[in-house]
Amino acid sequence: LIERIDGDIDAVTRFSSTAVLHLAGNAILVIGVLVVSAFIDWRASALIALTVLAALWVTARLRRIAVPYYDDEREVQGKLYGDVEERLGGLEDLRANGAGRWAEHRLQQHSAGWWRTARRAALRGDGSISLAGAVFAAGSIATLALGVWLARRGEMSVGSVLALLRFSQLVSDPLWRVAEQLAEAQKAVAGTGRAARLLATAPAIVDGTGDDLPDGALSVELRNITFGYGTGHPVLTGVNLVVPAGSTLGVVGRTGSGKTTVGRLVARLWDTEQGEVLVGGVDVRRLRLADLRRRIGIVTQEVELFRASLRDNLTIFGTLPADNGQLQRVLVDVGLEDWFRSLPHGLDQHLDGNDELSAGEGQLLAFARVLLADPALVILDEASSRLDPVTEARLAGATDRLLAGRTALIIAHRLATLDRVDRICVLDHGRVVEHDDRSLLAADSSSHYHGLLLAGQAVDGVVS
Ligand SMILES: Nc1ncnc2c1ncn2[C@@H]1O[C@H](COP(=O)(O)OP(=O)(O)OP(=O)(O)O)[C@@H](O)[C@H]1O
Ligand SMILES: [Mg+2]
Repeated sequence: LIERIDGDIDAVTRFSSTAVLHLAGNAILVIGVLVVSAFIDWRASALIALTVLAALWVTARLRRIAVPYYDDEREVQGKLYGDVEERLGGLEDLRANGAGRWAEHRLQQHSAGWWRTARRAALRGDGSISLAGAVFAAGSIATLALGVWLARRGEMSVGSVLALLRFSQLVSDPLWRVAEQLAEAQKAVAGTGRAARLLATAPAIVDGTGDDLPDGALSVELRNITFGYGTGHPVLTGVNLVVPAGSTLGVVGRTGSGKTTVGRLVARLWDTEQGEVLVGGVDVRRLRLADLRRRIGIVTQEVELFRASLRDNLTIFGTLPADNGQLQRVLVDVGLEDWFRSLPHGLDQHLDGNDELSAGEGQLLAFARVLLADPALVILDEASSRLDPVTEARLAGATDRLLAGRTALIIAHRLATLDRVDRICVLDHGRVVEHDDRSLLAADSSSHYHGLLLAGQAVDGVVS
C-alpha cells in the first residue's frame, strides 16, 4: 500500500514534471526542421515528416504493450517492501525463533521475482525505443537516397543534400529523448492505473446518514448476530446480547471464542453480515461513524503508541482537548505518576512508539486516553492483561471512576477483573452459552461462569 502511494505517485510526478517541458521543446524543434527543410525541397521535408510520424506510431503502439509489465513490476516491488517492513517489525520474534535464514531466503525469492518482472518490463519498454531508432535509421537512409537522386538529376546541390541529412538526424535526437520520456510515461501510466484502482476501492464500512445518539450513557444490543470476517466460517453465530445504559457487562470465554469480535462490531470496526448492532437504541449503520466513535472509548489487547510527544500520544494529536493539569491528573489516576516524574521533558517527552514503554505501561497510557475522552460507552478488551496484580489493583480505583455512570463492555480472562460488573456473558465457539446477572451465575453451581471461577481459583492456587 505504501509502495502504491509513494512509488506510483512518484512515477507520475517524475514524468509530469520533466516530460511536458521536454515534449514542448522537442515539438518546436521538429516543426522548425520540417519548415526549413520544406524550403530546400518539399519531398524531402515530407519524407522527414513521415519518418517522425512512423517513429511516433511505433512507440505509441509498443507503449501499450509494456504497460501491464510495468504494472506487474510495481506490484512485485510493493510486495517486497511490504514483506521487508513486516520482517523488520517482527525482528525480535524472528531472531528468538531462529527464523533469520528463512527470512533471508524469502527476501532472496522476492528480489529474484522483482528482477524477473523488471527485466520483462525493461525488454518491452526499451524494445520500443530500439524500434523507434530503427525507424529513424531507415528514414535517414531514405532521405539520403532521395537527396543523392535529386543531386544526380541536377535538382539539388550537394550542400543541400548534406543539410537535409543533417536535418533528418536533428529530428531524431529530440525524438529519441521523447521515446525515452515515453518509457517514463509507461511507468507513469501504470502508476496512474494502480493509484486510480486504489482510489476507487470503496470502503466496506459506509458512513451512516446521521441519526442522533441519545445523551448520557448508551445502551448496547446485539440482535441475532452472525458474523465471520467474510471468510465464510462464522466467528459469531446467533448472538443476542443486551447491555442496558449505565450497566456493565463482563464478556468471558476461551481464546478465540469471539470476545474481541463483539467489541469490534459494537465500535463498527466491522459490519455484521446478519442481524443488527444497536447503540443507544439506534442501528450503528445509521449513525455517523465520527458520532459513534466519539462516544466510545476502547482499550484493546494491542495498544498502539505513536512516535510523538507524550502529550500527542495522550490527546491523539489534539483530537481530545485537554490542558496540562488534566493530562497530569489522568497519568496519576492510572498509576503512571512515578514514570511521568522520571521524564526529563514531561508532557513534551518524545516517545519512540511502542519501543520505549513496557507493554503494561502502554496499556496504562491507553487507559489514560480513555479517561480523557470521557466516553459514554467503554470497551475494555483485556485492558489490564499486561499489568502485574499490584498495578492492576491500583488501576481499580481509576476503572471505577471511569465506569461510573457509563455503559461498559469488559472483556477479560482474569475473572477477578470482573468482580464489579453487573452481568456476565459467556461465549463459547461464537455462541452465547450464558447471559445473566453476575451474582446469580456465581451462586449457581451448575453455571459455566461458576465452573470458570472454580477453575480460576485452582489456577491461582497452583500459581501461589
Ligand atoms: N481480522 C480477522 N480476520 C479473520 N478472522 C479473524 C480476524 N480476527 C479474528 N478472527 C478469527 O475470529 C475468531 C475469534 O477471534 P476473537 O479475536 O474475537 O477471539 P477472542 O475471544 O477475543 O480471543 P482471545 O481471548 O485470544 O483474545 C478467531 O478464530 C480468529 O481466528
Ligand atoms: Mg480477544
